[in-house]
Amino acid sequence: MDWKEIYKSKLTTSEEAVKKIKSKDRVVIGHAVGEPQRLIEAMVKNKDQYEDVELVHMVAMGKGEYTHPEMAPHFRHNALFVGGSTRGAVAEARADYTPCFFTEIPRLFKDEYLPVDVAMVQLSRPDEHGYCSFGVSNDYTKPATECAKIVIAEVNDHMPRTMGDSFIHVSDLDYIVETSYPIIELNPPKIGDVEKAIGENCATLVEDGATLQLGIGAIPDAVLLFLKDKKDLGIHSEMFSDGVVELVESGVINNKRKTLHKGKMVVTFLMGTQRLYDFVNNNPSVELYPVDYVNNPYVIMQNEKMISINSCIQVDLMGQVVSETIGLKQFSGVGGQVDYVRGASMSKGGKSIIAIPSTASKGKVSRIVPLIDEGSAVTTSRNDVHYVVTEYGIANLRGKTLKERGRALIQIAHPDFRPMLIKEWERRFCTKFE
Ligand code: COA
Repeated sequence: MDWKEIYKSKLTTSEEAVKKIKSKDRVVIGHAVGEPQRLIEAMVKNKDQYEDVELVHMVAMGKGEYTHPEMAPHFRHNALFVGGSTRGAVAEARADYTPCFFTEIPRLFKDEYLPVDVAMVQLSRPDEHGYCSFGVSNDYTKPATECAKIVIAEVNDHMPRTMGDSFIHVSDLDYIVETSYPIIELNPPKIGDVEKAIGENCATLVEDGATLQLGIGAIPDAVLLFLKDKKDLGIHSEMFSDGVVELVESGVINNKRKTLHKGKMVVTFLMGTQRLYDFVNNNPSVELYPVDYVNNPYVIMQNEKMISINSCIQVDLMGQVVSETIGLKQFSGVGGQVDYVRGASMSKGGKSIIAIPSTASKGKVSRIVPLIDEGSAVTTSRNDVHYVVTEYGIANLRGKTLKERGRALIQIAHPDFRPMLIKEWERRFCTKFE
């Protein structure tokens, strides 16, 4: 049958499509700004038809209504990352958090640790061969469609068509809902003086010809500000945002010296403004692949001079990095942090950087601490950590003794907190700090 006939035969409304979800099903929702908003709205409206539907999701950029207290009999959210719309529900134990590396998520589905009943995703319009693109969210979204019993897709004419291993044929979809609304935008963050100083310090570690992974937020964007004089940079990253587009347009990022996927920027999802979405649309220099490929440390390491830049909440004097909890409170998730710390660490000439403001809570607390808060989870272990950067400088912890690490970290801590840290260091090592 012609693909157009197949496509037509699967067309339905969002109201009808969500009736295919049954009580106790596990539903995987398309990631981040690729969240299928109309399907979620219809599912929430249809709540009285469901009991105990498990909703598996990572970075939830929508309203997260299914986590509201009155939804408890109908939906249970299983978060693989915690964000603004879901943090309260996890804190109040109305939702669950499952610790896992981002690269491992497809395996949780495929090896049936978390068997998938329904995948609800958002796709681009089909091309002339009947293939829809996963657009801005490939990550675990594509793998979920490969093992779900039922695939329900919103086909949104605003979704960019991205390249790479980023396509699904209409014959592999079970129900199709046509939609038309702009992709959720994430506005560029405000970059203050502290972020600029951190960005400048990080940029000194970036050599010409390096391949970068950048997280999201003010610090990665501040780093990009200080890369304008570099040459031949490349991107192999979990995601990127608008800041990268500027460096591509100015010729700083050209991917020419990449040792894997030369000439291409490789990512697993994208989040930014419409400018970014227009840039990636039909752009053969940007390739999206599932996260079990992009974030696999053995893939990342094949990029020589791989540099990862991520942030955290606390670092203790041994170099243990807490990135996802504030005490017992699950604040975010591991995401791809450890995938890239390890990949960069194994790369020839690679460096992994944890970049942080020296303080938090408006300067009231130091992020460099003698001991991590009770209940905190260590995200990046002291064995994996390499560089820690603040607005006060750079601490290279690799190959350093505990005593040397403590000293290096105190030297980049906020001056107000150095006396307290020195006291602890002297107590621990029975030596005068000089
Ligand atoms: N003690 C108490 N509160 C702290 C704290 C600390 N040590 N560190 C941070 N906080 C508070 C901040 O004050 C802030 O609260 P506020 O919004 O009320 O001011 C809040 O926690 C967020 O901190 P901030 O550092 O501004 O957040 P961020 O948006 O820059 O994100 C991480 C930082 C660490 C949470 C984030 O990078 C993350 O989730 N990392 C792990 C995942 C990862 O690295 N993924 C890979 C790339 S996407």
